[in-house]
Amino acid sequence: MSHARITLDRDFTIADVPARLFGSFVEHMGRCVYTGIYEPGHPEADDQGYRKDVMALAKELGATVVRYPGGNFVSGYNWEDGVGPRQDRPVRIDGAWHTIETNAFGLHEFVEWARRADMEVMEAINLGTRGVDEARALVEYANHPSGTYWSDLRRKNAAAMGTSEEPFGIKLWCLGNELDGPWQIGHKTAEEYGRLAQETAKAMKLVDPAIELVAVGSSNRRMPTFGSWEHTVLTHAYEEVDYISMHAYYQEHDGDAASFLAEAVDMDGFIEGVIATVDAVKAAGKHSKQIDISFDEWNVWYQEGLDTEDQPDQVAKGWNTHPRLIEDKYSVTDAVVVGTLMHSLLRHGDRVRIANQAQLVNVIAPIRSEEGGPAWRQTIFWPFARIAELATGEIMRLAVQADQVHTERYGDVDVVDAASTYDAEAGTVSLFVANRGLEEPAEVSLDLRGLAAKSILRAEVLRIPEGGDRHAANDLQTPEAVGLVPLDGIRLEESTEGAGVHLSLPALSWSVVQLKVG
Ligand code: AHR
Repeated sequence: MSHARITLDRDFTIADVPARLFGSFVEHMGRCVYTGIYEPGHPEADDQGYRKDVMALAKELGATVVRYPGGNFVSGYNWEDGVGPRQDRPVRIDGAWHTIETNAFGLHEFVEWARRADMEVMEAINLGTRGVDEARALVEYANHPSGTYWSDLRRKNAAAMGTSEEPFGIKLWCLGNELDGPWQIGHKTAEEYGRLAQETAKAMKLVDPAIELVAVGSSNRRMPTFGSWEHTVLTHAYEEVDYISMHAYYQEHDGDAASFLAEAVDMDGFIEGVIATVDAVKAAGKHSKQIDISFDEWNVWYQEGLDTEDQPDQVAKGWNTHPRLIEDKYSVTDAVVVGTLMHSLLRHGDRVRIANQAQLVNVIAPIRSEEGGPAWRQTIFWPFARIAELATGEIMRLAVQADQVHTERYGDVDVVDAASTYDAEAGTVSLFVANRGLEEPAEVSLDLRGLAAKSILRAEVLRIPEGGDRHAANDLQTPEAVGLVPLDGIRLEESTEGAGVHLSLPALSWSVVQLKVG
């Protein structure tokens, strides 16, 4: 049995909960778009060919903002290919994923999908093979009301589709994708990218000054250019951009579950490293504005399993229109890790103002769907959905005193990982808490300073199901094998300040507790 004490003081807050922290990502990759969100002819397809079953799950997930259309895909993409009459759209090679892109789905289809899903669009532009001119044309096409070449073309194309001719009003734009990576089409040095980002940002904001721009940061913390990339790019583009991006994917290596369960420690350090670099550029450049972080790709992704018998190399499979690509099946362990990664994002919510789990459907995704068949929730759906629903008001600064668990990669770490929010208006506290212990349950006391728990509104846990093990997962045959169940062993406890809470967390679990407080 391990123990932890979590103290929460109503006066110690970090920031308001950023609505855009619960973002997702739709890339033209594998079956995310085709047979994911879009499948005309499916029994669940609506009038535009969007899958209603997937749409319902996306809404239940609670994603607020959705990045599109890539990803590596965007660095070779011509946005003009995806607008206008479908029969006239060119079929192209997508070099990034060795796929045939039919362009049956493009910008209008996506904007309309996002409108129906009630999500904000975050549009990425191609700065791999293209540049300033195509970017400013796209902003004009998307956001200018009318009376110019590109805006009138949007109106004409929208009218033909039977959707609104009004501007899309896209506020958030990514200035390319992972251009620090040698795998990226149009890979650049930091100098080359920094200047291009600066000039593209300038031209885009001349078309629509209200837009917000994300400069490309490092593709991961292990990149040889990590740190110097951000420094150089922002030295050029600090005044023109609003955010710098971060990407990170985690997986279990060689059965080392303890280190895998501690990956939020890596995420904490990665975020703090980027903040330090950004603020150093701010100070050196005597800038007054603050650049925040857009963590616009994060998740668990079993990259080590690529190019194996299970997931053969794309080139060997030939050219296909929507091949199965990285359709990772997520376990209980993965869900606990995803919960803790979201805790890390919340803990840094004063600077991480946007985050997108990659991706939404089928491709390393919380939602799975089969062509012509059903859709279901993966294990990782649950921590995302509950945090997106219940993290409201302000993020609390927690003091956690916990027993330690040893990990190969990160040394000793707290056995319990948590994040919390306080919604003064609703009079509620939400606590999100993981027990990283693989064998031992954890007894946790929650000490509320300046607030007393009046009642328990919600207490749920994702844990190893009866008769299962930590690899238990949902799939086509057993779509509900793992989900949230009531958390037993939770009780209000009297303390000098009023009532606190005592929790008993099962080994390897992620829990959510919502309290009415006064
Ligand atoms: O999300 C899958 C891929 O991961 C994206 O296309 C790319 O940006 C990242 O490397």
